Amino acid sequence: MTSSPAIQQGVENVQGGLGISVKSVSKYYGRGSQREQVLENLDLDVAAEKFVCLLGRSGCGKSTLLNLVAGLDNPSQGSISTGGRKVGVMFQEDNLFPWLTVGGNIELALKLSHVPRPERAARVADLLETVRLPGLEKLRPHEISGGMRQRVALAKTLAQECSVLLMDEPFGALDAFTREAMHDEIERIWAERRLTILFVTHDAREAVRLADRVIVMATSPGRIDTEIDITFDRPRRSDSAESAGLATELSNHIRRPLR
Ligand SMILES: Nc1ncnc2c1ncn2[C@@H]1O[C@H](COP(=O)(O)OP(=O)(O)OP(=O)(O)O)[C@@H](O)[C@H]1O
Ligand SMILES: [Mg+2]
Repeated sequence: MTSSPAIQQGVENVQGGLGISVKSVSKYYGRGSQREQVLENLDLDVAAEKFVCLLGRSGCGKSTLLNLVAGLDNPSQGSISTGGRKVGVMFQEDNLFPWLTVGGNIELALKLSHVPRPERAARVADLLETVRLPGLEKLRPHEISGGMRQRVALAKTLAQECSVLLMDEPFGALDAFTREAMHDEIERIWAERRLTILFVTHDAREAVRLADRVIVMATSPGRIDTEIDITFDRPRRSDSAESAGLATELSNHIRRPLR
């Protein structure tokens, strides 16, 4: 088993800078007659500093896979490595505490990352600059828009100094205009911080806008269906003919009848 060429290739890549390595991962939920296989023998390598989107229908296991990579749950079989890199996670719902200010939320993340108290105010200000919300420390989450809350949630995740960022439909609840603005922001922050990003979406246009590589998942059980590299110049426009054409092709592929 361990002499499989594919697995040996993976090991070499880890040494050469793999951000995320998923090997022969299966995941089951439930027991006995209720046992359901959600992921089947999944292999996925994400090179360091790449932006990879996981695209697939609802229920194909995208969030399950992301949670396994995040270490929030364990695979039933197989193994996952992020090469010791620090991992941050961001979900569709912001993870802000409503009783803390924007600054207080970010400061808490810094405190949990053991940043000494005297350094925290300057770091909070820097992180708010990074997500283009300078000076908003004193506001409460309910006083800012959904898009701004997701920026603060991103600042809170970046406060952990992660180099691998896992994002589960982080902009899914935002309106189209705000989502486009967030695409520009995450692309800039990814490049500036040289992050490795695994980004879950069921929106093919979003995947084509952001990804170096799109992994398309098939369902029941969840597995990798196909992968494509996207080499269009950045920043991309979702409404350009080449992006729109590829997104339509991918959407049609996902919609096709299952075997
Ligand atoms: N904790 C759990 N216990 C039992 N079954 C689960 C659990 N979490 C997910 N599932 C099942 O696993 C399958 C995959 O779920 P998952 O949430 O990973 O899909 P998804 O691709 O993220 O879907 P969506 O696009 O709707 O978010 C579904 O059939 C779901 O019902
Ligand atoms: Mg999901």
